[in-house]
Amino acid sequence: MSDIPAGDLIAPSILSADFARLGEEVDNVLASGADIVHFDVMDNHYVPNLTIGPLVCEALRKHGVTAPIDVHLMVEPVDRIIPDFAAAGASYITFHPEASKHVDRSLQLIKQSGCKAGLVFNPATPLDALEYVMDKIDMILLMSVNPGFGGQSFIPSTLQKLKQARTLIDDSGFDIRLEVDGGVKIENIAEIAAAGADTFVAGSAVFGCARQCDANQYDSIISEMRQQITQARSSEC
Ligand code: DX5
Ligand code: ZN
Repeated sequence: MSDIPAGDLIAPSILSADFARLGEEVDNVLASGADIVHFDVMDNHYVPNLTIGPLVCEALRKHGVTAPIDVHLMVEPVDRIIPDFAAAGASYITFHPEASKHVDRSLQLIKQSGCKAGLVFNPATPLDALEYVMDKIDMILLMSVNPGFGGQSFIPSTLQKLKQARTLIDDSGFDIRLEVDGGVKIENIAEIAAAGADTFVAGSAVFGCARQCDANQYDSIISEMRQQITQARSSEC
């Protein structure tokens, strides 16, 4: 599997892909410049929707996907399924602290399984759970919608929370990615980048348009997103 690239990363969420052609869809977004594959796991218990599990992750690896796979667990409990995702080829495994009775243990389990670990915060959840585990995490994922469905609108208070998380990361000195998930579009990605995110999940913005148009649209959407991020970075200097 490839190493995690540095810098700003675009992570299409395959939740909005055409599941009947999943391997091809993932190949196409990666060929169009996506950096990592965001893999949403929902259990109809922690969130009111049901998606995909380790078998699908393994199938993507067998299909030949070598890019990092960013597994976002929206399941409760989390520990039982962590080793299965590690064996299936996950690169990152992130989970919601409310979904684990023993957050530190779950983080250790992910690391012991050879994956990078992260915590995910719902829009109304404060960042308190980070206080004693900053040394054990590789990613903080801020939900900018309530989890469970693609195609929702970005919740604006996430911008303030991103700034808070960015300060926590910078003050800690640890190498931690700051990911944002939900309602990310070409129109708002620049202000999201300026608020401190460096990893951008986009589902409907990437796959939605191509479904209506054609797969070549992935190229233009991903490069427009990247241009917006680059502009935001250049105005920071
Ligand atoms: C929501 C998922 C998101 C979702 C994002 O629970 O975690 O990854 O697919 O979809 P969009 O980009 O359409 O908001
Ligand atoms: Zn997600």
